[in-house]
Amino acid sequence: MEEVDLLILNASEILTLRNYNLSKTNTDSLSIIKNGAVAIKNGIIIDVGTTKRLSKKYKAVETLEAKNKTVLPGFIDPHTHLVFAGSREFELDLKLKGYTYQEILEKHGGGIYYTVEKTREASKTQLVSEGKKRLDTMLAHGTTTCEAKSGYGLTTRDEIKILEVTKELNKQHPIEIVPTFLGAHAIPKEYINRKEEYVKLIIDEMLPKVAEKRLAKFCDVFCEKGFFTPEQSIKILEEAKKHGLTPKIHADEFSDSKGAKIAAELDAITADHLLKASDKNLREMARKKKNIAVLLPATPFSMMLKEYANARKMIEYGIPVALATDLNPNCYTENMQFIIQLACLKMKMTPAEAIIGATINAAHAIDLANKIGSLEKGKQADIIILNCPNHKFIPYHFGVNLVEHVIKKGKIIK
Ligand code: NIG
Ligand code: FE
Repeated sequence: MEEVDLLILNASEILTLRNYNLSKTNTDSLSIIKNGAVAIKNGIIIDVGTTKRLSKKYKAVETLEAKNKTVLPGFIDPHTHLVFAGSREFELDLKLKGYTYQEILEKHGGGIYYTVEKTREASKTQLVSEGKKRLDTMLAHGTTTCEAKSGYGLTTRDEIKILEVTKELNKQHPIEIVPTFLGAHAIPKEYINRKEEYVKLIIDEMLPKVAEKRLAKFCDVFCEKGFFTPEQSIKILEEAKKHGLTPKIHADEFSDSKGAKIAAELDAITADHLLKASDKNLREMARKKKNIAVLLPATPFSMMLKEYANARKMIEYGIPVALATDLNPNCYTENMQFIIQLACLKMKMTPAEAIIGATINAAHAIDLANKIGSLEKGKQADIIILNCPNHKFIPYHFGVNLVEHVIKKGKIIK
């Protein structure tokens, strides 16, 4: 008998997502093992199979009994605005009166500008402590890795501050965090009549500093009417590439702003939101096969919109679809189970497609699929155990937390 650190036994379903191939998109297959087991040693998965086989082969220091439970890779949240100060619950009254996102931002003292003000005022210590609370909530709901964007600083100093807070959180918290520079989140108020100058500041000052300090892996831009034009977005993302940052893009959220087209042209790793992306530009993404669509159904939900991204069409075209929370003060949720529920109930994704979106495709969306996102020999042991007998319960039994255990790098942390 080989000795291992941890054995998970008797799971009614193990969703392995093994041998998943991104180019064969959304096969709708989770590669399930019934009455399954996982063996873990030194933080790595060393075997996955039936309980019958693994219980004969391994003895473990610690065992987790998973009878009637569903075991799957920890959720990966590939789009968050984790670090911010203040909250915007006051916007709900405005939303209920029918004001739009842009009206709340421009005329009612809310939106990104409100959060930028609070975040600029906040100390690093305060931001770390607030970020940590959100990460704890994420972990409790099954997220084991996330992406986190800057973007509520909009000065060189404050953008760096946010990315340094992100780095500190990554050190202090079991959740692994992949950082994204989003200096192009909005034109700051002090630059409102000299927008090109702000673009220049991003290019001449922010990007070189962020790259030199190695504070980000990705660079994102909010390409949208009233924010950054297609031309400005291309300029910033091309410059980011020169600094070794991989492009991402907030694309076609409120209007067809050519975001999907730019994503395809620049080989951006992801195009996010995509509610208003045109058919033609989506087909272009599908043809190039370089982008993953990151869909954020909690965002239209939080704004009480009727329209959601057309996931079915993207899947039909062969675009890989990942899911994320978009955690931010407008759309305040840390819970990927809720995102899977919205994906199924509002975007008509199947439970399997949504789970793929929250695990292996989400891993691809942050370029970590070689390490996480499936339960396979050699991958990091980031695993969750859900208190339900099969995966269809995740969208079916909504509004509760199904997570019973969270294992990160082989350690049981919940
Ligand atoms: O992804 N769309 C732009 N940014 C965020 C919202 C930011 C905010 O409202 O604070 C988003 O939805
Ligand atoms: Fe966002």
